[in-house]
Amino acid sequence: MKLTRRSILAAAVFASFAASPFAAFAAKPLVMGFSQVGAESEWRTANTVSVKDAAKKAGVNLKFADAQQKQENQVKAIRSFIAQKVDVIAFSPVVESGWDTVLREAQAAKIPVILTDRAVNVTDPSLYVTFIGSDFVEEGRRAGKWLLEHVKKTSPDGTVNIVELQGTVGSAPAIDRKKGFEEVIASNAKLKVIRSQTGDFTRAKGKEVMEAFLKAEGKKINVLYAHNDDMAIGAIQAIEEAGMKPGKDITIISIDGVKGAFEAMIAGKLNVTVECSPLLGPQLMQIAADVVAGKPVPKRITTQEGVFPAEVAAKEFPNRKY
Ligand code: AHR
Repeated sequence: MKLTRRSILAAAVFASFAASPFAAFAAKPLVMGFSQVGAESEWRTANTVSVKDAAKKAGVNLKFADAQQKQENQVKAIRSFIAQKVDVIAFSPVVESGWDTVLREAQAAKIPVILTDRAVNVTDPSLYVTFIGSDFVEEGRRAGKWLLEHVKKTSPDGTVNIVELQGTVGSAPAIDRKKGFEEVIASNAKLKVIRSQTGDFTRAKGKEVMEAFLKAEGKKINVLYAHNDDMAIGAIQAIEEAGMKPGKDITIISIDGVKGAFEAMIAGKLNVTVECSPLLGPQLMQIAADVVAGKPVPKRITTQEGVFPAEVAAKEFPNRKY
C-alpha cells in the first residue's frame, strides 16, 4: 500500500479523535431528554435558553419538553424519553417528592438521570447520577443575613414585620429558601414573619398575594421577602398601586438576580437580590458527556453565586447575562 503524506495525516487525525471523549458523538450524537418546569419566570426563560444553546454547541440532540409547572406532565415526558431510548435524561423537578416510581423505570431501562436546578426527595439516591444547581438554603440564609445587617444599620423602633412570598408549594427552592431565611432571622427577636403565602414564582401571583397582604396588614408591613425576583416585581406594582413606595416604605429582598431585578434596584424600588444562576446548560452538557462515557462524576455540583444590593446595581448591570 502506498502511504501518501495526506493519508498519514488523515490516519493521525482519526486516531486522536477516536481517543477523545467526543468520539461517540461523531458516530451518533448524544440524545438527551430534558423536562423543564415551565416558563414561569425570567429566570426559567434564561435557563431554557442556556440549556438549548449549550446542547446546540455540544452537538447534543435535545428532546425538550415544557411541563407547564405540572408534575404529571414531567412524569409523562420522562416516560416518553424512556420509550424513545434516549442516552440520558435531565430534568428540573417542579416539586421535591413523588419521583421514586418513574425514576425506578428509568433505572430499569439503564438510562442515567441528571437533576438540574432543583433536587428530589427519594428513598434511593442511586436513582439519579448527579445534581447540578444552587444551594437554596444558603440563598435563604444570604437573604436573612442581609436583613440582619440592614436592621443593625437602620435600627428601627419596635418589631420589624415581614411578609413572605413563597415559591411553588412543595418545590425545593420554596422549602429551602424559607428554611435558610428563618434560621438566620431567628437570632433577632425583633424580626417577625407576619404573613407567608405562595405566589407560585410568577409576577401575576406575586402581585395578587401582595395585594391581599396589603389589605390585611397595610402600613404594618416593613419588609417583603420574595423567593424570586418575578414575585417581587409583581409585588412592587401592588405596593405602588396602594400608594406606598417600594424599596422605601417597604424594604424588599428577593432572589435570582435577573435583569428585571437590577432595573428595579436602579429605580430604587428593590433593595437587594440574592443571585441564583440559571446558566446551567454548558455544565449539564459536559456532565452528560462524562456520564455517558462512563466517567465518575460528583453526586452534587453546586453553583457559585453572590449577593447584589441596590448600591452596586448600576455598576453591575452591564455585566449581567440574564
Ligand atoms: O428553581 C429556581 C427557581 O425557579 C427560581 O428562583 C425561580 O425564579 C424559578 O421559577
